[in-house]
Amino acid sequence: MRPSIPISVLVAIVQASPLQNSIKDDGQHPIKPSPPSSAPVSPIPSVGLGLWNSKPSDVPHAIASAFSSNYTHLDGAAAYNNEPSVGSALSDKHAPARHTYWLTSKLWNTMHKPVNVPKAFNKTLSDLNTTYLDLYLMHWPVAFLPDNPGRTIIDQDTSITDTWRAMETLASAYQASNGAYGAHYIGISNFSPRQIDEILKMCTICPYAHEFETHPYLQQQEFVNWHIEHDMKVIAYSPLANLNPTYKDVMPELPPILEDKFWVGAAQKKNVSVAQAVLGWNVQRGAIVIPKSVHAKRIEENLGALKVEFSEEELQDVQKEDKKIRFNNPSKDWGVELFEGLDGGSNRFVIEDEL
Ligand SMILES: NC(=O)c1ccc[n+]([C@@H]2O[C@H](COP(=O)([O-])OP(=O)(O)OC[C@H]3O[C@@H](n4cnc5c(N)ncnc54)[C@H](OP(=O)(O)O)[C@@H]3O)[C@@H](O)[C@H]2O)c1
Ligand SMILES: *[C@@H]1O[C@H](CO)[C@@H](O)[C@H](O)[C@H]1NC(C)=O
Ligand SMILES: *[C@@H]1O[C@H](CO)[C@@H](O)[C@H](O)[C@H]1NC(C)=O
Ligand SMILES: *[C@@H]1O[C@H](CO)[C@@H](O)[C@H](O)[C@H]1NC(C)=O
Ligand SMILES: *[C@@H]1O[C@H](CO)[C@@H](O)[C@H](O)[C@H]1NC(C)=O
Repeated sequence: MRPSIPISVLVAIVQASPLQNSIKDDGQHPIKPSPPSSAPVSPIPSVGLGLWNSKPSDVPHAIASAFSSNYTHLDGAAAYNNEPSVGSALSDKHAPARHTYWLTSKLWNTMHKPVNVPKAFNKTLSDLNTTYLDLYLMHWPVAFLPDNPGRTIIDQDTSITDTWRAMETLASAYQASNGAYGAHYIGISNFSPRQIDEILKMCTICPYAHEFETHPYLQQQEFVNWHIEHDMKVIAYSPLANLNPTYKDVMPELPPILEDKFWVGAAQKKNVSVAQAVLGWNVQRGAIVIPKSVHAKRIEENLGALKVEFSEEELQDVQKEDKKIRFNNPSKDWGVELFEGLDGGSNRFVIEDEL
């Protein structure tokens, strides 16, 4: 007998989503806990290397370059389809010791059911050849049913709080094992204010960090400040705005931020590169930036964000350059509401008829 589709299942066809929809893993990945040799990195370093769109064949060189430039933070995810390659780079004989750098990964949408959370986590640990993560994030506040290649089926029966509770067990395991196995910190990504509130109302172990899109064209200054005031780290993704080629169709008429007159001027004045100025502004307002590159020179250049300083007056000028453009919003593809109440997101106060 064919099972009927439960009424609670929503179907949406995915159009050219940059991320894969299903991460197959049936295998067991028991991790052998390994007592840490030293205290881990904490707090999270201000600049990390992003790993989305880094081809597995480019990853070893990118990570080796990052380590030689003294990066101590890597931002990966199961959905980036390169974790085994990241793992071999981390296992290279020239790689620094595990406790000397911060490693983030993320739980993909198909693994939100509480029973799947430790499986996905162990699979990531096994791919990365490590026994703990510094930070494990819920990649999106959206649960998909597992294993539906080619289309996305929303899992209406798994809430973000169900998934969070399961993630808390990974953080408890870390504490109970004194760092031999588990997630040192857990966090969220791409959450709306209302979704953050839902987690804060129920969490026993609360989000250490929130990773979301923010850059000079999508500043969200109030939202950033709210996190800092509530002791939640802001990890700014796509910190170079429209440089990610995946975003080229969102606003094709907008030139790359590296050619933006305002930013070219700001960089010249400071004798730094435009990328350094753009990243440095985010760092100065308290965000952590995770620029992605697979080129050694750019990787080293981006760490130079740490030497950039803006005056109060300059910060006010930057504020005027906000374009409130969100480049990463799969809301339509997935058939779900995202970023409710935020710039470039859905806003429940907008009356659609009037648009
Ligand atoms: N949580 C989430 O949902 C989420 C979503 C998006 C991104 N992220 C994370 O955030 C990271 C960064 O965001 P992103 O990858 O979207 O975009 P990004 O880091 O803002 O920009 C990356 C692009 O800029 C180029 N680039 C980097 N440094 C440069 C420089 N100094 N000069 C000129 N070009 C430069 C890179 O090219 P080359 O590689 O060719 O150098 C790449 O095409 C991701 O890799 C991922 O780790 C997370
Ligand atoms: C994950 O690994 C831990 C540590 O070895 C183990 O206790 C746990 O049972 C594993 N979980 C799954 C689902 O494989
Ligand atoms: C990295 O740190 C080491 C040791 O502090 C230093 O000698 C080296 O110059 C640094 N490399 C870069 C590229 O800054
Ligand atoms: C995993 O890391 C350990 C050291 O922690 C190393 O001995 C081992 O060779 C690595 N395994 C792989 C498959 O790279
Ligand atoms: C500008 O920066 C470059 C490279 O970092 C350096 O060689 C040069 O001396 C700097 N110029 C001034 C005027 O500070």
